[in-house]
Amino acid sequence: MRKFSIKGVDIFKQWIVTSALPYANGEMHIGHIRSTYLPADIFTRFLKLKGIRAYHVCGTDEHGTPILARALREKKSPKEITDYYHSLILHALNGALIHFDIFSRTTISNHEKLTQWFYAEAKKAGYIYKKEVKILYCEVDKIALPDRLVKGTCPFCGAPDQYGDYCEVCGRTYNAFQLKDPKCSICGATPVVKYSKHAFFNLSAFTDKLSKWVKEKLKLTKGAREHVLHWIKDGLRDWDITRDISWGVPVPDIPDQVFYVWWDAPIGYITFTSELFNKIGERWEDIWIDGTGKITHFIGKDIIYHHVLFWPAMLMSVGFTLPDEIRVRGFATLEGKKMSKSRGLYISLEEFINMWPAEYLRFYWSSSTTESLNDGDFSLREFEERINKLLIGVLGNFINRVLILIRKGKISRGVIDQNILSRILNLKKTFLEKVEDNQLDIGIKVILEMADIGNKYLSQNEPWKDLKSTKASDTLVTTFAIVYTILPLLAPYLPESTIKLSKMLGLDEYQVGTFLDITPSEEIIADKITLFREKGFTKPLFQKISKQDMDNLRKKLGL
Ligand code: MSP
Ligand code: ZN
Repeated sequence: MRKFSIKGVDIFKQWIVTSALPYANGEMHIGHIRSTYLPADIFTRFLKLKGIRAYHVCGTDEHGTPILARALREKKSPKEITDYYHSLILHALNGALIHFDIFSRTTISNHEKLTQWFYAEAKKAGYIYKKEVKILYCEVDKIALPDRLVKGTCPFCGAPDQYGDYCEVCGRTYNAFQLKDPKCSICGATPVVKYSKHAFFNLSAFTDKLSKWVKEKLKLTKGAREHVLHWIKDGLRDWDITRDISWGVPVPDIPDQVFYVWWDAPIGYITFTSELFNKIGERWEDIWIDGTGKITHFIGKDIIYHHVLFWPAMLMSVGFTLPDEIRVRGFATLEGKKMSKSRGLYISLEEFINMWPAEYLRFYWSSSTTESLNDGDFSLREFEERINKLLIGVLGNFINRVLILIRKGKISRGVIDQNILSRILNLKKTFLEKVEDNQLDIGIKVILEMADIGNKYLSQNEPWKDLKSTKASDTLVTTFAIVYTILPLLAPYLPESTIKLSKMLGLDEYQVGTFLDITPSEEIIADKITLFREKGFTKPLFQKISKQDMDNLRKKLGL
């Protein structure tokens, strides 16, 4: 791997951070950002702050049978569906302050080309073969029906109107061919059994290479590794990568078939990198072929198999670069239950950001989500507490107190308490290590601990009792140094408040990153205090959540 170095430290030239591509057939809810988009956003912002050329790459996943089925049901074209959801999804994610360097779509023409190229290369290398499979086909809709899209009578208990994979009455599983009286769930016609020749990817050929890579190279979330090694031990099955439908990337050597959506979707990570890099005059091949950069994927726990086994095997089959890290997080529940739109227990992302500042959700999830497969709950009571007591009570209050007292006491310089400063600088070191290692929850806890130290220091020394005293000056200069240490660390988590705080301090927002490397000295802090008193102002950073707001939401959710 080629590296270059700054100040004697090797850093990677470029870092590609990806978020799983959301399906363009539904809106975002507050859970999606817990596992995937928020951690990826925080991590990319952190890398950028450190001066690394990091890029957050994503876009909508626009192929697949469910999208086609939805279009058929609603008598629309798949393109109408995906156009609509592409903008809706992007709007909600932007509203949550998730920044993408590119947010594209898998329906762009470059993507089709690259998907077909992957297939051709994998075939040349001997990893593709054809095999006949039995399918249920709806001749009205011209679509091969996956089990989920067939309905009929349960072969075991005789309950009518059950899905093709599972009976909700007796709880047994089966496949759609076993259903009595099967019907297409889109149009109601009786599907026919057909035999169709599909392309298969020889996943089992990669068993040893994948196992070695997962054990020795890949940085993978604890818990996910155990699952993956277990799957490998159980034996990897070859993978049917084509479908008899019309929506998707056409398979060049099989008429009337398109690639299975999971064959084309991850290739989007590369297509979108190349789209971005063409714009900024960089070479995507550096990353994906020559391996001169780093690649980190962020995903939820339901798509581990696809990212840790399928996708790397695809990359291996064409000789491309494998990801360095795959970071997995668990699912979100709401008040301890699975979110459900039909039962009303559901908060869309759009709804949330119309109610409260997006940063409240960012704070809630980032302070409560570990990098693990553990699920996490959005509990209304805990949300209210975390925002009012921690974000506002600890952090917001600390910053506010310091700034108001400095202004009131016309403080200009003083002696920094080295004991406090060294504790703060140690915490900063922890922050940098943990966040780099994706323990984003520790990062926010460290910030809160810094504020807590500051608050206690203020209470102990009571500078407000005599603002003219040397002791008050020293105390406030010391706590001002804490504010300056916190400022850049806050940027990845609460980007909007960071800008507000910079303005309050009399700074331009782009200066925030420069404070990451600075150890506050008395000179520097005296300068910054002058700047603040001349050009800055004070205003509370956050507003408490009212009881009324919480009650309204409770009512809406039927709680
Ligand atoms: N299109 C695929 C990913 C293709 S990547 C090449 C997909 N899309 S999705 O829209 O269903 O999910 C998008 C992301 O959100 C995934 O990382 C998924 O794990 C995550 N989540 C989906 N539901 C979630 C929760 N309830 N909670 C947390 N994350 C959730 O999968
Ligand atoms: Zn049909």
